[in-house]
Amino acid sequence: MSIRFDGKAAIVTGGASGIGATTAELFCELGARVAVLDRDAEKGYKTVASLTAAGHAASFHACDVGDLTSVQSAVDQAAREHGAIHTLAHCAGIQRYGTVLTTELDTWHETLRVHVDGCMFSMRAVLPYLIAARGGSIVVVGSVQSVMAVAASAAYVTAKHALLGLVRSAALDFARSQVRVNCVMPGAIDTPMLRFAASLAPNPETVLEACRRAHPLGRIGQPIDVARAIAFLASDWASFVTGTALAVDGGMLVPLGGADFQDSGTGSVGQ
Ligand SMILES: NC(=O)c1ccc[n+]([C@@H]2O[C@H](COP(=O)([O-])OP(=O)(O)OC[C@H]3O[C@@H](n4cnc5c(N)ncnc54)[C@H](O)[C@@H]3O)[C@@H](O)[C@H]2O)c1
Repeated sequence: MSIRFDGKAAIVTGGASGIGATTAELFCELGARVAVLDRDAEKGYKTVASLTAAGHAASFHACDVGDLTSVQSAVDQAAREHGAIHTLAHCAGIQRYGTVLTTELDTWHETLRVHVDGCMFSMRAVLPYLIAARGGSIVVVGSVQSVMAVAASAAYVTAKHALLGLVRSAALDFARSQVRVNCVMPGAIDTPMLRFAASLAPNPETVLEACRRAHPLGRIGQPIDVARAIAFLASDWASFVTGTALAVDGGMLVPLGGADFQDSGTGSVGQ
């Protein structure tokens, strides 16, 4: 028996790009009907066109997940089109930088709106359908920054920490409805978001090299690494898993110590 989603309909927010687009494709390959929700309509229609061209059942619904009316109407439309909803993979997100002193207030509010309101509103719109289907699953894309911080990322780190609280609350509140709610926490993954972040540095390759070194497995993650973890948590293979956070980070969260401690700290003497 392998992971299959035959007869199931899944919503993937942020499905136009990166981790979301790869998750939408994997869900399709595993038999699901997939509704892609994203605010980037051009990329969203393109992603869905390539899925339907490959013979999959997929649809695109433009929305801003941080606007309840917008996400509600997209989810209702998706449910009408696919007959039901059994799964939500919430991948929509943005990356913004700044400390408590340097983050513009607009940036602060927008980051929290997209991530925290966006996750809450997506769950709120989808949950009645999961309950009506007598159960289902939600997988939220957090980050290693849901449990740790990197410099000058106050809004993003705060938002990603908040998502873990939301996942745990919803897992508890909807367990009796047989809705499982889990989180994946990616390390650095090679998507347009990471490439954009690297492009802000004078030498992007230095940033990418630091990302490689931060993962004990010695490489940057690929979207499929995360999509597979999402598919596992969304599937019946994770039937007794709820309220958990699965790091998909090449071991990034394992080592003890700050920058370069592994190379020059106490453990290095035994190598
Ligand atoms: N790439 C990484 O290194 C990394 C690491 C950890 C976590 N993540 C998280 O993974 C998720 C996906 O990121 P990605 O790397 O694939 O980025 P990406 O930029 O490739 O994709 C993000 C998608 O979200 C959509 N989106 C953004 N704001 C939206 C809104 N308000 N409403 C609807 N759609 C919106 C974008 O249009 C885009 O299609 C994000 O939550 C991100 O924070 C990424």
